[in-house]
Amino acid sequence: MRRKLIAGNWKMNGVRASLSEIARLAELTDRDQRRRHDVLICPPLTLAWTSALAALGSGILIGAQDCHANASGAHTGDVSANMLSDLGLSHVIVGHSERRADHAETSAVVKAKATAALGAGLVAIVCVGETLAEREAGKAEAVVGRQVRASLPDGFDARTTVIAYEPVWAIGTGKTATPSDVQVMHSFIRSVVKRMARTEASAIRILYGGSVKPGNAAELLALPDVDGALVGGASLVASDFASIVKAAG
Ligand code: PGA
Repeated sequence: MRRKLIAGNWKMNGVRASLSEIARLAELTDRDQRRRHDVLICPPLTLAWTSALAALGSGILIGAQDCHANASGAHTGDVSANMLSDLGLSHVIVGHSERRADHAETSAVVKAKATAALGAGLVAIVCVGETLAEREAGKAEAVVGRQVRASLPDGFDARTTVIAYEPVWAIGTGKTATPSDVQVMHSFIRSVVKRMARTEASAIRILYGGSVKPGNAAELLALPDVDGALVGGASLVASDFASIVKAAG
């Protein structure tokens, strides 16, 4: 049985007043749910430390949205994976499509970041996903397969690495892939992982992301190869995110 991971990505949203959402999330989810599943919030870095304090004792995990591939050095404005784990964070998202698009991150860069994350003792959440044009051209599996092969760190395992499938056209648009498209893609991703690391394929967690909301979460999370969700917009409001956690069962 794979443990579900329900992850919230706040992106570039939130100021100190938003910390109350973390306390509220702890109130709205019960301890059993937080024990059964991993519940993670990735706030902007400015709130990482205060979020970790706000989550103390609740079982809610706090992670980051990106890291640099190097451990230290002359990289103005960047933050290393070591710095994140020094802060007590548990996870880091790498290769989100917004980073791939806004910062021209290639899968090679994403792999270097994921490698750094594992080296620092963090769990890497490696994002992959096709654009609408790629899907319409019938290339979704080819694109995602290539991203998975090129982005996962060498020697990855199911304990330290999570994959998030996020079709780019479903992010922040209110459109979700149909449950059957999601299941087909997740099962395809698992088959790619099997060719890379046979022993990890059945244990690795594959999250779905892209307009996951309280209204569609139960259906998506019930799919056999969906092991959790990466939630953007709906993670900003504790009551919505708590409903998604509840939908995980
Ligand atoms: P969304 O974002 O839930 O707002 O579509 C998902 C994501 O980008 O991780």
